[in-house]
Amino acid sequence: MAEQKATNIHWHEGEVTRDERAGLLGHRGATLWFTGLSGSGKSTVAVALEGVLHDRGVLCYRLDGDNVRFGINKNLGFSEEDRAENIRRVGEISKLFVDSGVLVLSSFISPYVRDRELVRQVHEDAGMAFIEVFVDCSLDAAELRDPKGLYKKARAGEIKNFTGIDDPYEAPQNPEIHLRTDEQSLEQEVAEIIEQLQARGLIPQ
Ligand code: ADX
Repeated sequence: MAEQKATNIHWHEGEVTRDERAGLLGHRGATLWFTGLSGSGKSTVAVALEGVLHDRGVLCYRLDGDNVRFGINKNLGFSEEDRAENIRRVGEISKLFVDSGVLVLSSFISPYVRDRELVRQVHEDAGMAFIEVFVDCSLDAAELRDPKGLYKKARAGEIKNFTGIDDPYEAPQNPEIHLRTDEQSLEQEVAEIIEQLQARGLIPQ
């Protein structure tokens, strides 16, 4: 849990509500949290899904591990502590987007159950939907794909603490959505998520 350092701060309510913003957009915000090994397909699925949802009139925004580490999280590395802070920050950013009415597609390895559960808690405490999507793929398949050549470097000892090689990945036990990217096609994966979002009333039919 991050320490509350600032004192003498007061929440200032606005005059436009979350419900009113949802009325304007025709849908409420929600976070879809993609977790899985590097190379499992998190970003690929999120990009494809974003296109389909956008075409259906759903306002989406993607947050992606590699991308946010160029900006707001450029001061964080890959220690357990830094990964926790990475996930805490992007969890809070996701929550802000959800409050604004956006459907957030957050793709982070997020290897620790504890960090993901904290993000879930932050959303649920605020009455927001949090959908965990386990982008499941065997280490062998991810390593064979090796889209960024990072597994090769990790095996050669050029990258330390690489998830799946010499750093842990704690798989979700009870994800809302469980994709198997070494067995399903991208189209099937996107269709499964759309179906789930409709079933939960998060996007129009
Ligand atoms: S997380 O563990 O903190 O959730 P995040 O999703 O932000 O990770 O970033 C993962 C991306 O950083 C990987 O897809 C990969 O491109 C890159 N990366 C660089 N070093 C590492 C490492 N040691 N472990 C995992 N990913 C790494």
